[in-house]
Amino acid sequence: MKKITIAIDGYSSTGKSTLAKQLAKELGYVYVDTGAMYRAITLFAMHSGYIGDESINVDGLVSELFKIQLKFVFNKDLGFSEMYLNGENVERKIRKMEVSKNVSRIAEIEQVRIKLVEMQRKMGAEKGIVMDGRDIGTVVFPDAELKVFMTASPEKRAYRRYKELLDRGEKVSYEDVLENVEKRDHIDSHREFSPLMKAKDAVEFDNSDMGLKEQFERMHNHALRVI
Ligand code: C5P
Repeated sequence: MKKITIAIDGYSSTGKSTLAKQLAKELGYVYVDTGAMYRAITLFAMHSGYIGDESINVDGLVSELFKIQLKFVFNKDLGFSEMYLNGENVERKIRKMEVSKNVSRIAEIEQVRIKLVEMQRKMGAEKGIVMDGRDIGTVVFPDAELKVFMTASPEKRAYRRYKELLDRGEKVSYEDVLENVEKRDHIDSHREFSPLMKAKDAVEFDNSDMGLKEQFERMHNHALRVI
């Protein structure tokens, strides 16, 4: 079987990573969650005082980008990779609501995107990869053999994220999560550099009313047709 590149893009909390992980496991591919990379840079910016209530010190952050080391380390017990920022496991911290509130503003910065896209292309150079994000099929791997664009209603997506956060012990309200999901989608879709959009050759996938099993089977079938 030939190895291919699978690009999964779409709106926030559409379940991209759950599906991408399953697919990568089934195919014996590497899975890369590019959202985790943007989140880790956001955490760095928050800890370094570059994010204020109203504005971001873009020049300050950009001047320190070279200091940021990101690494995915596979956790055998969990069965997936965790994000390390300058040697620290930040997997839990980057999923918090505080980071979600800031991440789209950091992801708008051109130099941040240049740094991460370069890393992502290196990770996928050998193919045999499932990568999820917002610009994978349009910018990172425009030649990916399989591109998927996932959507679902904002309410369904917010409810999924809300439950996920509650399960992790975070105290959040559904309204707050819905507002965050809608705000991020708006910024992600309207930014100047690499806005979120469906690649012309992507398969669109609305999973508002679809269970995980059906989603996986559909996606797996798409992959098998190309492989
Ligand atoms: O996928 P996740 O929801 O964790 O992504 C967090 C944020 O990172 C997105 O809302 C978006 O602003 C940014 N992102 C991006 N490009 C990617 C992946 C994520 O701009 N490829």
